[in-house]
Amino acid sequence: MAAVPHREATLTYWLKNAAYLTGLPGYAAAVRLAGVRAKTPNDWLAVTKRLRLRGYSLRAHQVDEEILGLIGELRERKVERVVEIGTARGGTLFLLLRSLSPTGRFVSVDLPSGPFGGGYPHWKALLFRSLARRGQSLSLLRGDSHLEETRERVSRALDGPADFILIDGDHSYEGAKRDFELYRHLLGERGFLAFHDIVPGATEKVGGVPQLWQELKAQFEHREIVKSWDQRGYGIGVLYPRGRP
Ligand SMILES: C[S@@+](CC[C@H](N)C(=O)[O-])C[C@H]1O[C@@H](n2cnc3c(N)ncnc32)[C@H](O)[C@@H]1O
Repeated sequence: MAAVPHREATLTYWLKNAAYLTGLPGYAAAVRLAGVRAKTPNDWLAVTKRLRLRGYSLRAHQVDEEILGLIGELRERKVERVVEIGTARGGTLFLLLRSLSPTGRFVSVDLPSGPFGGGYPHWKALLFRSLARRGQSLSLLRGDSHLEETRERVSRALDGPADFILIDGDHSYEGAKRDFELYRHLLGERGFLAFHDIVPGATEKVGGVPQLWQELKAQFEHREIVKSWDQRGYGIGVLYPRGRP
């Protein structure tokens, strides 16, 4: 899938941002308040869907049952340091931040106007920053995850080995494989990672992830969190490169 044309230099882009910025403080405050009240993963999911700002919400590109399954594992393992490749609308960012301990570190990478989602405009970074709970550290990196330089930035921001990495950025076969090969070295001894969109579906949606997943699952211990193999797309593949603890 080709990259979406870069829109950040146009007047329309800045005017649209300005319109969002005026509503942002109220929206961020509402999300924070709802986030504090929401006690369970089901409540968190409801927040991502219910609160809207001029048509925008934090809705994740995920099947509810699947992301809840992943959240369950993150909480069970008490993960502290997380890397996400593919921030997009901030849906998994919000949900995974909630799953971390109050001292957790989270690094999320996205490529402005990147393929398979289009990234996010600058104003959303203000909102995303407000999603971290007191004591949590959140770094939002804008750049191409495939570059060694970006991996270095991630490593510095993480300040220690990663417990979990979500690969949900460039879904092309080469792109997802590059992310896997580049970032797996950041994992600590008990670290594990997950791919999104392992279920075969339309190429513009899942890219080459299902093919890559079939190859990787033959080599490593793994778990598949899939609601239905007929759903065309979605599905989370969890990989334990150093074995399942
Ligand atoms: C499917 S979306 C992520 C969805 C998000 N994880 C969620 O469920 O809420 C994919 C994102 O990856 C980003 N992306 C694509 N190629 C990338 C690259 N090479 N480096 C970093 N981000 C990339 C796109 O800009 C897009 O925002």
